[in-house]
Amino acid sequence: MDASDSTNQGLVERPTYLFLRVLEACNAGCEMCAFAFSTDPYRLPHSRLVQILQVARREGMRYIRFTGGEPLVHAEIIPMIATVSAECMLSSIITNGALLARKLPDLVSAGLRQAIVSIDGACAETHDRIRATPGLFERAVEGLTLAKERGLRTRVNTVCGPNNFRELPRLQDLLTDLHIDQWELSSLKLERRLDYTSRDIQEVDEVIRYVYTDAVSSNRLLPTGKVWCGNSSEERDRYFASGITPRPDTRCHVVHRVRYLDAKRDWLFPCSLLPHRPEAQRVAETMSAETGITLSPSHMRNMVDWYYVNGPDVCTGCSTTAAGYSNMLHNRQLEGDWAY
Ligand SMILES: C[S@@+](CC[C@H](N)C(=O)[O-])C[C@H]1O[C@@H](n2cnc3c(N)ncnc32)[C@H](O)[C@@H]1O
Ligand code: SF4
Repeated sequence: MDASDSTNQGLVERPTYLFLRVLEACNAGCEMCAFAFSTDPYRLPHSRLVQILQVARREGMRYIRFTGGEPLVHAEIIPMIATVSAECMLSSIITNGALLARKLPDLVSAGLRQAIVSIDGACAETHDRIRATPGLFERAVEGLTLAKERGLRTRVNTVCGPNNFRELPRLQDLLTDLHIDQWELSSLKLERRLDYTSRDIQEVDEVIRYVYTDAVSSNRLLPTGKVWCGNSSEERDRYFASGITPRPDTRCHVVHRVRYLDAKRDWLFPCSLLPHRPEAQRVAETMSAETGITLSPSHMRNMVDWYYVNGPDVCTGCSTTAAGYSNMLHNRQLEGDWAY
């Protein structure tokens, strides 16, 4: 690492997004997720959220994103969103959508700004199988439709792997018809390389052509950030050979804008992807001994500087959105609300 290169080219270094994992319990059984059907009893207490938000506000954070487990299972999620609104920050929620339609009126009254719903297939058969939850696809689409009608910003997160990539064109058509605002199309991450066959890899090219290359002229909803398996042939070769997902091209600017708090363990991360990586415990343990609810401790500064320079070479589980967002900041492109 060249020390002279560890600066941020004069960008405003200010975390603006705070991810909060408010529980681990979940009402779905997704085959790829560590929280599948978890009955873990931990819930972030509302009183603690109030403390966290006071610090977040002081730090200048603007966007609070609730995640889990399944955040809509949290009994206090509505008052917690109302508290975010009262603190003049904007809230969003990442949800499997099972309870979204039912809770939407209260979520809207509490001031929720963005609904992010995970959808992994273009039909109930695929999605409900991956998520081991009959009826989930229908409820997720219903929730998104109502969220749109009630004026929320809508986003779909899709986790893509060898078993569902062929459905991406049909899913894109559906999301375009539903007028979804944003689509994050990221790679499935497992603690092993994904088994794409050589035939799959040939078919991936056709899917990329439809979903990315032709989407602009056809006015379809374009996924955010990089192509899920990489923009360049080098990135794709590495992804298919080693499972390393696309990374920022130069420096990682995400660490300047994003913090992730695993509330149960009091672990704070300089990125929303690190909590899901094998190195998470190593990174977070360092934090947990000292941080309490302070969102910018001194060693976080060191961690940020280290990942800013080294992340693009070493991170094995970056997301397409993170990589694209980082490139966008690096190129000083204008950043709209909820760009991350
Ligand atoms: C852990 S979930 C929590 C929020 C909510 N329960 C949901 O499913 O949207 C957050 C996101 O992580 C994604 N995810 C879960 N397991 C994953 C994996 N192995 N690889 C990549 N993304 C994953 C989910 O699809 C979801 O979009
Ligand atoms: S719904 Fe979300 S938290 Fe629950 S098992 Fe699926 S991906 Fe994991």
